[in-house]
This record gives sequence, C-alpha cells and structure tokens, in this order.
Amino acid sequence: MSPWHASSARLPNTPSPRAIEDYPEIVQIVKTPTQRQNFSGKWHVDSTYLETPPDYTFLTARETPPLGGDTVFSNAEAVFHSLSEGLQALLENQEVEFASDVHATQRGQQLTNFSGSDADTYRAVHPAVMRHPRGGKRALYINEEHALAFKGMTREESQPLIRYLTERIAQSEFTFRLTWEKDMVALWDNRLVHHHAVNDYHGALRVMDRITVNDRGLEA
Ligand SMILES: [Fe+2]
Repeated sequence: MSPWHASSARLPNTPSPRAIEDYPEIVQIVKTPTQRQNFSGKWHVDSTYLETPPDYTFLTARETPPLGGDTVFSNAEAVFHSLSEGLQALLENQEVEFASDVHATQRGQQLTNFSGSDADTYRAVHPAVMRHPRGGKRALYINEEHALAFKGMTREESQPLIRYLTERIAQSEFTFRLTWEKDMVALWDNRLVHHHAVNDYHGALRVMDRITVNDRGLEA
C-alpha cells in the first residue's frame, strides 16, 4: 500500500480552486484571459493555514500562456542559514498563526473556479522554522501569503519582520524560476521550498492541475 496519503487541503469550502469532476484528488487552478488577479501570487508555502499542511505538491501545466506565468521557487533552508545566528535563534523559538484570509481580496470573484467564500477562514499555528522530519534540516516556514502574526504578538508588530524575511526569500541567490511548458510536471517539498506564481500574462489562459500529498506515517 502506498504510504502517501491525500492531504486534507481539499475541504469542501477551502479557499482554493475546485477539484476536477471525477478526480477529487486534483484541483485545477485557472486564470482566464480576462482575470486580473492570480492565485498564489505572493510568496508562500501551500496551505499553511491548515493544521496539517501538505508535505508535497505536484503541479502540472495544462495550458500555458505564450509568454510568462512562471513559478518562482526559493530555497527556504538556505534562506534560514543566511540569517544571523541571533535572528535564527529568535525565529526558532517562535510560533506563527497562519490564516487563509490574510490577504483577502476580490480574488474569489476573479478566479473562474474558486470554491471558497469570504466567510470561510482557516487558521493554524505552526513553528516559524520548520525542522524537517527526515534528516532534521531547518528551513524558514513563515510566509507572506498566510502568516498573520507571531504567536503572542500583534499583526502590526509582526509585519516588519515578515516583510524582511519575505525580502530575503525573494533574493535571487536563493531562487529558481521555472518556465512552464505544456504538460510539464513539478514536484516539491513544501517544508523546504517557498514559491509564488508570477502574474505577468494578462490576456492569456493558464491552467494548472495540482495534487497535494502528505507522508505522515513514514519512518524518518
Ligand atoms: Fe502554491
């Protein structure tokens, strides 16, 4: 039996794109030529507002714009180790409240197959620094898209540090930019990698199929 388990990210009203009919494990992320806003435009780790966020994401390009629509990845382990020892120590002792509506906008109305509503919010607390269960690598887990605040701190107090860390994540020496081709598949480990979708292809269609999985239950 496969040790991989489907993640719980596809709750009925989870603010994410809908599952494909007859293929409940696959959600489709669609941006039509007339939509201005994209899904996952800010730096993030997938669904950290869930109690059990997905460990891995598979993304397949079904329709790609003629130009643009890249996904940019950042090595969160390298980012963490680039920080001063003092900041590393501070972050390692912090927990973060993540929320699905940190940047709530009109995204829901602007995405073709968005299944959530403004009333649905999800919240979860996770460490600011992920210690990977396989091998113990440490990586920055706090992310701009879903981090509401450090636990015990206000959002106002938290934002400057979240903003600073996001700038570090975005630094070119930590990043890899993937230009999609039709039917290309990418797989990444959400505990070590941050990503965001570049919204630079207005007027073109982009369709991506996403599957998320967890490896809970496997021995490290
Ligand atoms: Fe994502």
